Amino acid sequence: MNLQKKIEEVRISFRTALDSLTSDNDAVEELRSKYLGRKGEIASLFSKLVTADPEEKPLLGKALNQLKNDCLVSFEKKVRGFEKPVGYSASSGMDYTLPGIHFPVGSLHPLQQILDEIKDVFTSIGFSIAYGPEIDDDFHNFQALNIPKHHPARDMQDTFFIDKNIVLRTHTSNVQIHLMENNNPPLRYIVPGRVYRNEAISFKSYCLFHQVEGLYVDKHVSFSEMKGTLEYFVKRIFGRDVKIRFRPSYFPFTEPSAEVDIWDEKRDQWMEILGCGSVDPAVFENVGYDPEIWQGYAFGMGIERIAMLKYKISDIRHFYQNDVRFLSQF
Ligand code: DAH
Repeated sequence: MNLQKKIEEVRISFRTALDSLTSDNDAVEELRSKYLGRKGEIASLFSKLVTADPEEKPLLGKALNQLKNDCLVSFEKKVRGFEKPVGYSASSGMDYTLPGIHFPVGSLHPLQQILDEIKDVFTSIGFSIAYGPEIDDDFHNFQALNIPKHHPARDMQDTFFIDKNIVLRTHTSNVQIHLMENNNPPLRYIVPGRVYRNEAISFKSYCLFHQVEGLYVDKHVSFSEMKGTLEYFVKRIFGRDVKIRFRPSYFPFTEPSAEVDIWDEKRDQWMEILGCGSVDPAVFENVGYDPEIWQGYAFGMGIERIAMLKYKISDIRHFYQNDVRFLSQF
C-alpha cells in the first residue's frame, strides 16, 4: 500500500478514535501513545519515508508533517475540554466560581415613594383616599370653586383647554366638588392625582405635575385644627427639626387662606409646599351644603415640590425623563 494512502487512513482512524474519546485518563493516554507516541502510528509512517521513492519524498514528507500537526492540535484541544474549571463541583456538575447572571430589578419612582409616604401619614389620622377626573368641565375646575369666568384668579393657572367648557384639570381641587356632590358630610379625604398647566417649562415648572388635595368637612372644624394637622404632616415627612411657617395667602375657595413654607437649607430660603384654608361658604353653597351647619378645611400640595426638597433634586424635569441613572438612586 502506498504511503499517501496510509497517511489518509491514519488521519481517518485518529479522528474516529478522538471523536469517541472520553475524559478517562487511561483512554486519553492510550490514544496519545497509539498515534502520537514515539512508537505510534505517525512515527511509524515517518520511518517508512526513508524507503519511499526519492521523487515523492518531499510531498510525502510535507503530508506527514501536516498529519502530525493536525492530530496534535485536535488532540490537545479535545483534552483541554476535559479539564475541570476551578470551583467545579464533581457532585453537582456545576462551577460555583462562575459569575452569576444579573437580573436587573426596577424600583418605585421617587414620586410614587413620596406619594406612598403622604398617603400613610394621612390615612393614619383618619383620612380616606379618593380620586377624580383629569379631564373635567369648567364648573368643577373653576366655577364651583368660586372662580367665576373672567375672575382674575384664573390667571394663577394657565389652562389647557379641550374645548370651551372642558379642561385638563389645573389642580386636584376639582375633586373637592365631586366629593361633596356625591357624599353627605362629614367627610375627610385626600386626593392624589396628576394636574396640567400650560406653563413655560423650566427647572421648576413642567406642563404636568402631581398634587395631593385634602378636604375635611364636619360640624366643628377650626383653622387651628388644620394648622396642627398640617404641622404634624410636615414633620412626619421632613423630620421633627424642620422649620415651618404659615403665611397668609389668597385662594378663591378658602377663607382665610394660608400657604405653608419650609426652610430649605440647600437654597437658604423659604420654599412653599402647600396652600390651605377654611372652606369658603360660597363653595359649600355651590354643592348644596348648608354653610350655617358645616365647616371645613382644605389643602393642596405639589408632590414634585416635596420630593425635590426632601431628596435635594434641583430640576423638576428629572422626574419625567426616566433616566435610569437618576431613578436607580431611589
Ligand atoms: N389648588 C391650589 C393650587 O393648585 C392649591 C390649594 C390651595 C388647594 C388651597 C386647596 C387649598 O385645597 O385650600 O395652587
